[in-house]
Amino acid sequence: MKAAAKAHTNIALIKYWGKRDESLILPMNNSLSLTLDGFYTTTAVEFQENLTADRFYLNDRLVEGAEYRRVTAFLDRIRQAAGRPDAFAEIHSTNHVPTAAGFASSASGFAALAAATAKAIDLPVNEQQLSIMTRHGSGSACRSIYGGFVEWEKGIKADGSDSYAVPIAPADHWDIRVAAVILSSAEKKVLSREGMRRTVETSSYYPAWVDSIPDDLAAIKDGIAHKDFEKVGVIAEANCLRMHATTLAASPPFSYWQSTTFSIMEAVQDLREAGVPVFFTIDAGPNVKVLYLPEQEETIRSTLLGIPGVHDVTVSRPGQGVSYI
Ligand code: DP6
Repeated sequence: MKAAAKAHTNIALIKYWGKRDESLILPMNNSLSLTLDGFYTTTAVEFQENLTADRFYLNDRLVEGAEYRRVTAFLDRIRQAAGRPDAFAEIHSTNHVPTAAGFASSASGFAALAAATAKAIDLPVNEQQLSIMTRHGSGSACRSIYGGFVEWEKGIKADGSDSYAVPIAPADHWDIRVAAVILSSAEKKVLSREGMRRTVETSSYYPAWVDSIPDDLAAIKDGIAHKDFEKVGVIAEANCLRMHATTLAASPPFSYWQSTTFSIMEAVQDLREAGVPVFFTIDAGPNVKVLYLPEQEETIRSTLLGIPGVHDVTVSRPGQGVSYI
């Protein structure tokens, strides 16, 4: 009863921002992401007869507290589904991220954990079922089941059975690059879960955010299909700015950005004015992801590394979906 899996993280080009059901993790809007080859998690799960509780090691460290409970609650669902409510496992998870500078690994983490656990407990699941299962760990993680460009369909059913990711274009469809810019001091003050809850409940800009999604989605999917970089970049950057605008209109208002975040956004806009096609996107934290085409690699890297407050730059290409190891 053991298995191991590998999953990559993903960056949303159309953001998931807001839940309509917090316990089932059902989103208010569809989202669309690119799976990244540069950041991944490997997870080994072994169910053992002698265990009376799960044991979870992250990067060789035994995890306790809230982080541990989130993992065991996630495993409870899989145990139930497999009809093995008292099977407990030892889990070893390793995050392959360049630094510990505040990079979210929950997407790759839950995708790898779901895949390895289902296999170890002998629960047959197809990719769609695996995506639904993964969604219960962390919403954005459901997109990491697939490689390349992926859409998470919000679904309309109350039980969440139609809320899962679908592949839009595989990793080898288009060699687009994503530079993850890591700041020297990146503190996330409001967690994404709390941030999106506060925004849904209090932001007067939130309804406008939800209304804007269908047009963004249709246009970006057309841009991806035709490999129209300008179109994809313009939409992704505008969608990111609109998501972050909702936080400024929340009560109390908040922002994920730091001063270096602004410096990077300005540098990207300056490059664009100088004729370089490059765009940014930002998740629920201060780090910035920069989108560009391979021929701009040197220009982008050297510009970003020259910005004061930038600690490191890691380049990703489109990555593959979940795999078993
Ligand atoms: C801004 O998936 O981390 O990165 O479902 O509460 O675990 P939970 O939230 P999470 O939120 C990600 C929000 C985002 C946008 C995105 O990835 O689509």
